[in-house]
Amino acid sequence: WIASTVGLAIAYLFGSMPTGYLAGKLLKGIDIREHGSKSTGATNVLRVLGKWPALVVLLVDVLKGAAAIVFARWFYPWFITLPFVTPSIPLDLQAWVPWAVCLAGIAVLLGHGRSIWLNFTGGKSAATGLGVLLALSWPVGVGAAAAFGAVLATSRIVSLSSMVAALTAIALICGLEQPLAYRLLVIAGSTYVVVRHRANIQRLLAGTEPRLGQSSPESK
Ligand code: G3P
Repeated sequence: WIASTVGLAIAYLFGSMPTGYLAGKLLKGIDIREHGSKSTGATNVLRVLGKWPALVVLLVDVLKGAAAIVFARWFYPWFITLPFVTPSIPLDLQAWVPWAVCLAGIAVLLGHGRSIWLNFTGGKSAATGLGVLLALSWPVGVGAAAAFGAVLATSRIVSLSSMVAALTAIALICGLEQPLAYRLLVIAGSTYVVVRHRANIQRLLAGTEPRLGQSSPESK
């Protein structure tokens, strides 16, 4: 339980790193949560601050998702080899590791969407989710990124592309030989990403969701 809590806290803090918010403050002295879609994600950074800040935010947000998984995969197996831990837990510890990694993946997504540094606001966790996927199972990450690219190229709507990518990730992880814990992480994480796009879904249904390059109607 100590290992789980420490690992989860670290993954959550990775996710909480407020990249888009910092870009707004450092580059323009603004709170990005008061502009565009109000998200701290790379798409809103692109809208409000431009291409290069958006690219940096995108990269860092992908990296923090991947870092949480890489860290968890290293940390938990290392922790259970410690001499004061191994004899004290009557569990199949190797079987427990994928579940701990699964929880760390959820924690990093929650951290991005509900950052401790931003009064539990944040982004929609699509880029961070891509980082999680790439570190968890790169074919799933690449497949989701390809789905994102294909939908974006045809629709030029980022939110729609993100949600299709999230659903594609579920289909791919379920079709591949992967631990149950990883499948559940992708199902829960993708569901979270879609739920975070609620306002976008309403605008898509109303036909008012902006395409790339168009300004955003202010959303709640
Ligand atoms: O990853 C977020 C993207 O899918 C939508 O962002 O700012 O248009 O709501 P935004």
